[in-house]
Amino acid sequence: MSSLFDFDKPALYAVMGNPVSHSKSPRIHGLFAEQTGQRIQYTAIQVDPGGFEQAVRNFMANGGRGLNVTVPFKTNAWELVDTRTPRAELAGAVNTIAVQAQGVLHGDNTDGAGLVNDIVNNQGGVIAGRSVLLLGAGGAARGVLGPLLEQRPGELLIVNRTADRAAALAQNFSRLGAVAGCGYDDLADRRFDVVINATSASLHGELPPLPERLLASGAWCYDMMYGATATPFMRWAERHRAGKVLDGLGMLVEQAAESFFLWRGVRPETAPVIAVLRRELAKHG
Ligand code: ATR
Repeated sequence: MSSLFDFDKPALYAVMGNPVSHSKSPRIHGLFAEQTGQRIQYTAIQVDPGGFEQAVRNFMANGGRGLNVTVPFKTNAWELVDTRTPRAELAGAVNTIAVQAQGVLHGDNTDGAGLVNDIVNNQGGVIAGRSVLLLGAGGAARGVLGPLLEQRPGELLIVNRTADRAAALAQNFSRLGAVAGCGYDDLADRRFDVVINATSASLHGELPPLPERLLASGAWCYDMMYGATATPFMRWAERHRAGKVLDGLGMLVEQAAESFFLWRGVRPETAPVIAVLRRELAKHG
């Protein structure tokens, strides 16, 4: 009998990535399961480059019900799945797979919803009608553009070191709203209400080349990265008197909650889980 229908065992989920050992997803989903009374087992699986499809097949053969996918396999996951949600289709990347009847793989991307839910629901921020600047034009930026545009910002500008990449990305999303792309030199004399860092600069302890006067009065700055201490972009935002400075821990928990909902049909409370993660991050990194 397929373990899909084996109700004695906890349902099997995992995150696949490389590296994956520091992933907080097992902890987050463990806390969600505890809170909602769902019986799941959630592990982290390190996958070799080139081994993603085989790893997914093995996972399914073991009765796996759903996966999170992280760097560097989100595009592989997008290619592999049989069906995609519209937001995954647009993002060009899949971070959540649900194994459906007959082994059909359904792909979603919950990153953008995670970002928007954190800003709007958790923090009470506003994107609608505001001028929004998105730093970066890589996979992380692309993943959140659809849900950001759904909020109907007054303007969304993508800025990237390689300006052409920003322009091309904006072009891809132009039918969803007012979005344009440019280089950092084009930011002179511009002011923004919301600035979101989707570059990988923080990973390398770097700061994108931002002009001194970029923030409108009370502007919100959001780094999609997080860590035990403030990122260089967050420190820049503090120095430049941002109204609010946030890291990506809330986004991480919110994207996980969206995945959990897709798999289990139950929406966990995120605030207590964010609080636990925040405490643990301060203690252990
Ligand atoms: P990801 O999937 O995390 O977005 P990526 O596709 O490699 O990774 O994209 C990384 C993004 O961070 C790019 O927009 C990159 O800018 P370029 O396209 O010009 O390379 C941006 N980035 C990385 N380091 C940066 C830095 N120090 N300053 C500004 N942008 C940086």
